[in-house]
Amino acid sequence: MELIFHLDAIRDAARRFLAETKGKTVFAFHGEMGAGKTTFIHAICDEKGIRDIVSSPTFSIINEYRPEDAKNGEKIFHIDLYRMKDQEEAMLAGVEDCLYSGAICFVEWPEKAPGIFPPDTEHIYITLAGSETRKLRIGRN
Ligand SMILES: Nc1ncnc2c1ncn2[C@@H]1O[C@H](COP(=O)(O)OP(=O)(O)OP(=O)(O)O)[C@@H](O)[C@H]1O
Ligand SMILES: [Mg+2]
Repeated sequence: MELIFHLDAIRDAARRFLAETKGKTVFAFHGEMGAGKTTFIHAICDEKGIRDIVSSPTFSIINEYRPEDAKNGEKIFHIDLYRMKDQEEAMLAGVEDCLYSGAICFVEWPEKAPGIFPPDTEHIYITLAGSETRKLRIGRN
């Protein structure tokens, strides 16, 4: 499945993404620096009712978000492996625990620790399609 979206319509793209991937928990977002991984993950979180993302002071390796209405949604891990040297460092940071916790996990730079992902991980590929347009592909082919 492919989505092409302008920044102005990112919430709509996030909604379609969620409908398409219902039931999945671990999402690996591939794409070069500035491709729009963080921006799209934040749009998905907005769509899921998370309201406190912009207030997180620093961008750590593992961010845990909770919806405002806790009973109306599950917690979400947003993980950025960019600064990880290797798989072992990611495991020591507790990334694997998150990935197998059953919670929804959105992961940037999954290629830093490819071996720690569960077999049913959904792989997402984001590429530039224009200055404010992005192409997002779900699945390996
Ligand atoms: N359609 C779009 N979707 C997502 N981002 C877009 C879009 N159009 C423009 N942008 C811009 O592209 C940039 C994407 O930056 P972002 O931090 O999301 O990338 P990233 O893939 O997370 O990079 P990094 O690997 O450094 O973490 C932002 O400045 C965002 O505003
Ligand atoms: Mg990012």
